[in-house]
Amino acid sequence: SWTMLNIVEDAVEAVREKIGPEGRAICALSGGVDSAVAAAMVQRAIGDRLTCVFVDHGLLRKGEAEQVEQDFVAVTGVKLRVVDAADRFLKALDGVTDPEEKRKIIGREFIRVFEDEQRAILADGPVDFLVQGTLYPDVVESGGGTGTANIKSHHNVGGLPDDLAFDLVEPLRTLFKDEVRRAGEELGLPAAMVWRQPFPGPGLGIRIVGEVTRERLDLLREADAIAREELTRAGLDRDIWQCPVVLLADVRSVGVQGDGRTYGHPVVLRPVSSEDAMTADWSRVPYDVLSRISTRITNEVREVNRVVLDITSKPPGTIEWE
Ligand code: XMP
Repeated sequence: SWTMLNIVEDAVEAVREKIGPEGRAICALSGGVDSAVAAAMVQRAIGDRLTCVFVDHGLLRKGEAEQVEQDFVAVTGVKLRVVDAADRFLKALDGVTDPEEKRKIIGREFIRVFEDEQRAILADGPVDFLVQGTLYPDVVESGGGTGTANIKSHHNVGGLPDDLAFDLVEPLRTLFKDEVRRAGEELGLPAAMVWRQPFPGPGLGIRIVGEVTRERLDLLREADAIAREELTRAGLDRDIWQCPVVLLADVRSVGVQGDGRTYGHPVVLRPVSSEDAMTADWSRVPYDVLSRISTRITNEVREVNRVVLDITSKPPGTIEWE
């Protein structure tokens, strides 16, 4: 729409002014809509004086890394450094089952990888600006105020050298989520990216109850892709806030698949409706849709022999299982 076009143009102009004719900026892409829209706006403003960094931690859902590496780059022309860090993250997560410990490790590794990239980018000249996809609700929640930050404080992880400080560029500071999505459409971003449901930074790492391994991630990615596909096909994407699919990797149950007895893992479907993720109710997904998801997952994902539905509201349950 013309109003959204104006909002985008104004934001781009403001970024251009803030960064100036020579300034350089960096931005960490997460695969999520906020960082993607922020990066696309800054790219419009300063072109390849922006460098984006995408740390692929190997914990994304099916197709998401490709969306960033191929579709997003093709549409925006953004200068992107991709770091395939899956091995590193998996190694750091080896043997870890505690949810908070998983979060800490993933956050810490992310910052280490990002700081290595920063140093490489700084070798080409100074960088004064860090782009962040902060939205208006985040600004209100944290009491306003802008200023300087580094990636460490952004991720709330301490214990790292304080030598990489930047001015923040936050082109989405005045926007709500739905406006960000419309701005993304205006900028031509892929629909799957713009309409992506909330997804936690630690990714599938906190949707495997038990140890995170490559094999388990592959299983969960397949099951999750099937659930997403069927919910989309049923036209439920906009009704459902998000639908985590959780692999209970430490649980086995007896089943019968084909001609034989199996001893496989259950997956949990956790569809929720919510306004802001602070509270949530379980979504009343039609039985025939649930049935299709269950049939397909147990047919197509060999090691999964049971699909269960989480019917807990928040509170007392959180949306994620870990
Ligand atoms: P919970 O599980 O607390 O989730 O009800 C509320 C919302 O936050 C997301 N979530 C996270 N997002 N890092 C994130 O960026 C995290 O560690 C994290 N944990 C939960 C969750 O997907 C839901 O939208």
